[in-house]
Amino acid sequence: MKGIKIRGTGRCVPQKVLSNEELSRCVETSDEWILSRTGIRQRHVCTTESHRDLCVQAAQAAILDAGIDASGIGTCIVATIGGDTLVPAAACMLQKELGLPNDIPCFDLNAACTGFLSALHTTECLLGASGKKYGLVVGCEVLSRVVDWEDRNTCVLFGDGAGAVVVECREEFPSIGAVLGCRGDDTLLSLPGAGTKSPQHISMEGAGVFRFAVEMVPRCMERVLSKHRCTVEDVDFFVFHQANARIIDLVVHKYRIPQEKYYKNIGEYGNTSSASIPLVLSELKEKGMVTGGSRALLVGFGGGMTWGGALVEFL
Ligand code: ACO
Repeated sequence: MKGIKIRGTGRCVPQKVLSNEELSRCVETSDEWILSRTGIRQRHVCTTESHRDLCVQAAQAAILDAGIDASGIGTCIVATIGGDTLVPAAACMLQKELGLPNDIPCFDLNAACTGFLSALHTTECLLGASGKKYGLVVGCEVLSRVVDWEDRNTCVLFGDGAGAVVVECREEFPSIGAVLGCRGDDTLLSLPGAGTKSPQHISMEGAGVFRFAVEMVPRCMERVLSKHRCTVEDVDFFVFHQANARIIDLVVHKYRIPQEKYYKNIGEYGNTSSASIPLVLSELKEKGMVTGGSRALLVGFGGGMTWGGALVEFL
């Protein structure tokens, strides 16, 4: 069984920062409410940047960090709820912009906030089956396009951004042992698509999603740990989907995970859906908080309702 390890990371967020203060001039809210309920201070939102711009820059940074040539990439998956166009897929335009080889699978994958984990697992399977060495996985969202800016229940939560990783596949590497699941539901979180009469905005039953997360994140963590026959103490770093700081706080408290073993950047970016986990990975690597040999347990959950976890090592 071939496995993958993370060789390079990169990220790109739009320049425009939208503070809680600025938002409170548009909807009835306050910095105090947003910060105390979610841990979010600000988010980045696209003004001139496109989804494609974010993908390209994050991917280029990851390839540079990996120290490989774009011609070595063997798979390209963009996890997203939607790029600039439905067709071509964002991954196809990445192939063109980066000059990736023609004979590799390039496609988008939508599993909402669990998208990055689903894409990482898919990449491991594809590389294992094809004999190619490197895979590019990008998580990218421009949620500012689908947020209802008049709905204070949701507009304060989300942000735009992209994170990317280059993974290396080798016979002797252990599998990331991904755990993925879904409990089909369109009542807690939804974004209607073309062809539906509902407005094309994210709607969410926040308290229900919160309860779902608090139930599924620990369950998912425990399944990953048992699959890898290891304990919380064996893990070097915990990377949680950044949806609400309070969800992360509850989980780290439950498992007594020390502060130096987890990370929160939700204050700066808000919830960036499928970009949130690779944004954390990129910052951790850049800051030297993870190095070669570090093992990180990743856990995500999101619309669908979906969840996923994996244990991944850095090269
Ligand atoms: N500013 C001020 N008041 C607000 C705001 C706001 N921005 N938003 C809601 N409120 C009000 C509501 O109107 C409600 O008022 P009411 O009681 O008078 O009706 C009250 O605040 C709601 O309070 P709570 O329910 O106590 O809020 P809670 O502490 O549950 O926080 C939140 C709400 C932040 C949405 C929380 O439930 C949460 O984070 N849920 C999880 C969200 C999540 O993770 N979503 C992403 C899923 S992943 C994906 O795929 C996108």
